[in-house]
Amino acid sequence: MKKPIRVAVTGAAGNIGYSLVFPIAAGDMLGKDQPVILQLVELPNAIQALHGVALELDDCAYPLLAGIEVADNSAAGFKDADVVMLVGAKPRGPGQTRADLIRDNGPIFTGQGDAIDQNAAPDVKVIVVGNPCNTNALIAASRARRTDKANYTAMTRLDQNRATGQIAKKLGIAPGAVRDTFIWGNHSDTMVPDFSKGYVLHGGEKKAIAEVVSSDWLATDFDKTVRTRGKAIIDARGKSSAASAAQAAMDHIHDWFLGTGDNTVVSMAVPSDGSYGIPEGLVYSFPVRITAPWKYEIIQGLPIDAAMQARIDNSTKELLAEREAVKDLL
Ligand code: NAD
Ligand code: LMR
Repeated sequence: MKKPIRVAVTGAAGNIGYSLVFPIAAGDMLGKDQPVILQLVELPNAIQALHGVALELDDCAYPLLAGIEVADNSAAGFKDADVVMLVGAKPRGPGQTRADLIRDNGPIFTGQGDAIDQNAAPDVKVIVVGNPCNTNALIAASRARRTDKANYTAMTRLDQNRATGQIAKKLGIAPGAVRDTFIWGNHSDTMVPDFSKGYVLHGGEKKAIAEVVSSDWLATDFDKTVRTRGKAIIDARGKSSAASAAQAAMDHIHDWFLGTGDNTVVSMAVPSDGSYGIPEGLVYSFPVRITAPWKYEIIQGLPIDAAMQARIDNSTKELLAEREAVKDLL
């Protein structure tokens, strides 16, 4: 029997939390032979609801679920955690941008950053889902002293999955046949969906996305749909994405730990090491490959034309403005 991996989830009784913790317990995220201990964290006013979630987890009798711990504070909730999934934060409502949440949600990540650094496993891996996720991850990473800042990441996998899904739908094929689309930049409308290295698998053949889908559609509907999908879901559901966000958070951690199997490109927002001229430390979505369990590498040397560069710069500018807006928290 493998040693259980401890996974802490904040906001575990919320919209996303309820879609996330059950498949993690079922082994969808870390593997079907990997026991997990769930460390569920909520605000004191949601603890009763969280106890209800824990009761349901018991009732599922998941073979891999080696323990459930419930906490109303981050210090207890993050104790010895190997993976911390920072979901708990306010979602935006109609008419708001994600950046409008920054002064409400940003302060959550100073305390949680400290609590991770002081209580989690030294090689803890962190994903921030709560918005605006890139800058919240920047805030949490800024508290890291004992833990590795490079392991503080934010989620743009949902945007990548949306891009993959749109291309698959356009071609009438399953999303599994669409590879290597990815996202640059911020999880906001300035994100840059990049299909230029993408391809589809068709009858054993690889075909570049640009060869099989019209360039007009890629430049217009596709691009806009991916960049504004979060709003479309809020407008339709009255609530922000939950099941798809939970799936993307699991995909992010799954691939970081277990790889993609075929070395495909994945999008992760990670602290920049200066690659592609992105200012160091800014939590920026890059194309990455997973080279070993819990090791990502930013793919280097991709050609970028002037139009793409202008869009990448625009997303950088927005993230620099977000950083400026929370400089008292860094
Ligand atoms: P929700 O309001 O349904 O649930 C949030 C939960 O977090 C609540 O139960 C709340 O009690 C809890 N919470 C709030 N502050 C907390 C704290 N300091 N510690 C612990 N728990 C806390 O919201 P949701 O729909 O689950 O969305 C959560 C966040 O995820 C939002 O900020 C949303 O915008 C964001 N989100 C991001 C992406 C992405 O792609 N990055 C996708 C979807 C949603
Ligand atoms: C999403 O992309 O679905 C989330 O970030 C929620 C939102 O506010 O758009």
